[in-house]
Amino acid sequence: MATLRLGDTAPNFTADSSIGTINLYDYLGDSWGILFSHPADFTPVCTTELGTAANFKGEFDKRNVKMLALSVDGAASHKDWIKDINEVQNTTVNFPIIADEDRKVSDLYDMIHPKADSTLTVRSVFIIAPDKTIKLTLTYPASTGRNFYELLRVIDSLQLTANHKVATPANWEHGQDVVVSPAIPTAEAREMFKKGVKEVKPYLRMTPDPTA
Ligand code: BEZ
Repeated sequence: MATLRLGDTAPNFTADSSIGTINLYDYLGDSWGILFSHPADFTPVCTTELGTAANFKGEFDKRNVKMLALSVDGAASHKDWIKDINEVQNTTVNFPIIADEDRKVSDLYDMIHPKADSTLTVRSVFIIAPDKTIKLTLTYPASTGRNFYELLRVIDSLQLTANHKVATPANWEHGQDVVVSPAIPTAEAREMFKKGVKEVKPYLRMTPDPTA
């Protein structure tokens, strides 16, 4: 499988998981999705990540994003590991973990990077829009746990920019000023964005977050 790029259709799959057989497209329905891989069960960083992800589920729900984790161990192992995660992270893992023992999904999504590890998945993230196109990819090494605040932040940006002709600047968070799309002339932007447009440079125009 070639590397998946932004705008590509997320390949569908059917796989075993901690809650039984899952088909990606059926699971996502019309929602956004976040698919994220973990190197292996009963590993320390992954344990913190999955507990954190479970504690963030309410925030993902608010944004209409369904969560789906993956690790290359089996479903029985996942279920045992979930008990540990719930205990040590004081949570309830409330989304499925794909059991990718045959590496079918990992290969489909290029989640094994042989120069990092020949058999275990790296920490990949795919954000999938309701039309099943891939909107974001991230790859972290096994040694670095992901920042779930950043994942929520980027979802806020993706959902905002899908519906408004804006882009979000460095370190932007929901409610802060956004950048007017470069393709829109300033005069037109002033008509479009009733909260006002500040022209810092002809190519850098700011406007308040239209959704705040
Ligand atoms: C971890 O999740 O802690 C981990 C997994 C594989 C390699 C290094 C760390």
